[in-house]
Amino acid sequence: MQEKIKHYSAEINAFEPKNAEELENFRIQFLGRKGILNELFEIFKALPGEEKKTAGKIMNEFKVLIEQKIELYKEKFESVSENAIADFDFTLPGDSSELGARHPVSLVLKQINDIFTRIGFTIVKGPQIEDDKHNFTALNFPLDHPARDMQDTFFIQKDDNDPTQDWALRTHTSSVQVRLMENNQPPLRSIMPGRVFRNEAISARSHCIFHQVEGLYVDENVSFADLKQTLYYFVQELFGKGTEVRFRPSYFPFTEPSAEMDIQCKNCGGSGCNICKYSGWVEILGCGMVDPNVLENCGIDSKKYTGFAFGIGIERLAMNKYKIKDIRMFFENDMRLLKQFKSEI
Ligand code: DAH
Repeated sequence: MQEKIKHYSAEINAFEPKNAEELENFRIQFLGRKGILNELFEIFKALPGEEKKTAGKIMNEFKVLIEQKIELYKEKFESVSENAIADFDFTLPGDSSELGARHPVSLVLKQINDIFTRIGFTIVKGPQIEDDKHNFTALNFPLDHPARDMQDTFFIQKDDNDPTQDWALRTHTSSVQVRLMENNQPPLRSIMPGRVFRNEAISARSHCIFHQVEGLYVDENVSFADLKQTLYYFVQELFGKGTEVRFRPSYFPFTEPSAEMDIQCKNCGGSGCNICKYSGWVEILGCGMVDPNVLENCGIDSKKYTGFAFGIGIERLAMNKYKIKDIRMFFENDMRLLKQFKSEI
């Protein structure tokens, strides 16, 4: 056995592999399952006890010799592949990766957030699943109001005997107003963007999911003039100076008086088209002075404080700003639409 080891050791010492493949063959030859080391081990096992001690030592040294050889060249061949990286031409043109674009709804929302935060409004968010109190009752919806009807609201939990126990997907962001007033005292000046849900037939003009931004300003001596001026500023900033607006009287349970605001149709410039139903005007928001009942429901002294509120439909605005004719396009993620917003920030 010792003779054999001597012979193999000389072979190992002389061995100089030229590449990783030769080294691997060498490893298999000596250390593989049917390799030389195992072969020697079989002989070793058969030796008489007293010879085992010295033979074992020699076997060990032999194994270390093989392993060291492998280690030495392994490093060498690995650093060769590192050299290959060093030789790589980094000035070659790379694979181009395409940058995405903001979704038009996100674009408009970002602009709305910027416009209102510039005049001191903070941004507040609320949950998309709401209880009856925050979505309806505290907002002064009478118990028999049609908006509580199954047709308009996606209920999650419905109690036919006691509607105050209902849970639903919020039908508007006005629910966040309630949360804000419940937990804070005036002065309050916030906008509340978010997704809302209505059980409506999907068409070019309406969808069961859309986005709103709620606005609320409560303080001493807040007047309807403040409301008009704030919204007027908002429209000039978003659509450009000189954009005409008009207010029409309206009704909402949570505001008194209430109004809706129209802007001049951007598609036809006011001359009439299918988007504005040939009226020249497009409705973009509802607004009004917060009903004193709502203030009281939320723990705010309605004798001391007044406030205004508004609710803007984001898709409606985006359709007007970007001349998108069908609300369903916002939810289809068609690249032909989305790619057109690459240059916007
Ligand atoms: N919540 C109303 C809706 O979804 C929009 C609205 C109207 C919000 C008037 C308001 C408001 O805050 O004062 O149709």
